[in-house]
Amino acid sequence: MVERPRREAQLLVMALLQKDELWLMTHENDLVEESEKLALWVTRRRANEPLEYITNRVSFYSQEFHIEQGALIPRPETELLIDEVLLIADKDKELTIVEVGVGSGIISTLLAQHLPKAKIIAVDISPDALKVARKNIEDFGLSERIELRLGDLLEPIDEKIDILVSNPPYIAEDEPLESNLDYEPDLALFGGKIGDEIIQRLLDAVQAREIPYFACEMGYDQKPKVENYLNGNYERLKFYKDLAGHDRGFVLKYK
Ligand SMILES: C[S@@+](CC[C@H](N)C(=O)[O-])C[C@H]1O[C@@H](n2cnc3c(N)ncnc32)[C@H](O)[C@@H]1O
Repeated sequence: MVERPRREAQLLVMALLQKDELWLMTHENDLVEESEKLALWVTRRRANEPLEYITNRVSFYSQEFHIEQGALIPRPETELLIDEVLLIADKDKELTIVEVGVGSGIISTLLAQHLPKAKIIAVDISPDALKVARKNIEDFGLSERIELRLGDLLEPIDEKIDILVSNPPYIAEDEPLESNLDYEPDLALFGGKIGDEIIQRLLDAVQAREIPYFACEMGYDQKPKVENYLNGNYERLKFYKDLAGHDRGFVLKYK
């Protein structure tokens, strides 16, 4: 069910006509010329398709990104992961940062914008997600700074990594989900039978390669497993919570 139908209809009209709130307030009684397209959009929204996939736009970290089915819609809590990386990354150094699970490209784009000397390599196992990431990276003029690679976790990376960042899929396969998530790619949501399998594979790779820093988002109940999974070479620099107060991620540092 759409909870705020009037508001959502307004958002659809503004996106369709590429107009802002002020225009809407002053044109309340106008007829929409592209009414067929609007009707189609309304039907899609009524079927619980997320607004972002219908309008192909999503706001993240105060910027507008392209989004389409095939890539996860960025969630506000992922802004915290970017903040954590910006706390550990030295802006004046030529760091190699790797993102695993680039999705729409929001994390790599933001990091490239804030860390002008960093080289970023971003991996995804989904060609559809890489297509969306490529569009955003090109739109922001960052193709020279962010290299995209298709593959499984760190398998396509031979380079020495200074910082690894990831918002991996971390939901358990049998977890009952709200119907709007039906539109998002399974690859972006489900981390395995238990949910933390991909995080564990990433931790294995981080520890085997002695990567200096690893910043990662996780599920609200995954902190104990992550803590216990680490060997003595890694300092648990931080476990951070999201705005709802749930455990949401961690930052590790090689000692
Ligand atoms: C939760 S989404 C995150 C997308 C984006 N980084 C964000 O924060 O909005 C996880 C991403 O990891 C990708 N992924 C899943 N399994 C993977 C694997 N084994 N290797 C590389 N990428 C993977 C998915 O295709 C998806 O794009």
